[in-house]
Amino acid sequence: MDAIVLLKDDHKTVEKLFKEFEKAGEQAYKTKQEIVGKIVEELTTHAYIEEQIFYPAAREGAPDTSDHVLESVEEHHVVVWMLSELTKLDPKDERFDAKVSVLIENVRHHVEEEEEEWFPKVREAMGRKRLQELGEQMAKAKAEAPRDPLALSSASA
Ligand SMILES: [Fe+2]
Ligand SMILES: [Fe+2]
Repeated sequence: MDAIVLLKDDHKTVEKLFKEFEKAGEQAYKTKQEIVGKIVEELTTHAYIEEQIFYPAAREGAPDTSDHVLESVEEHHVVVWMLSELTKLDPKDERFDAKVSVLIENVRHHVEEEEEEWFPKVREAMGRKRLQELGEQMAKAKAEAPRDPLALSSASA
């Protein structure tokens, strides 16, 4: 499994959940809470394998893109705090939908930058074989991802 293909698959999974949330009715509190639970789990796992494996490897293999990695970590920082807040927020709270909307906007922007601006450069610099090794490592590492978004390294500082 190629590392970039794996990450894009994750992005698609999350985008599907976003669409489900956007389609859920205003009063569908239970459904919305369940969807948000899945979003938290998917994004925490995804951010974990990016931060632990992909970002450092890409920084080494494509040093020209270091600034992009640093910005990405700051974007993760905002997202993981929002995820943590959402796990504690009642879906009936007037801030719930607003917080999810802003989360979705942030993640869509982040994903677009990764996929459009950054991944192609990483692919070119690292090559297929290295990306396949990384992909295997990342697929395995999913099993050890934390459940708490604030356990991610981007949560601190
Ligand atoms: Fe990311
Ligand atoms: Fe990503």
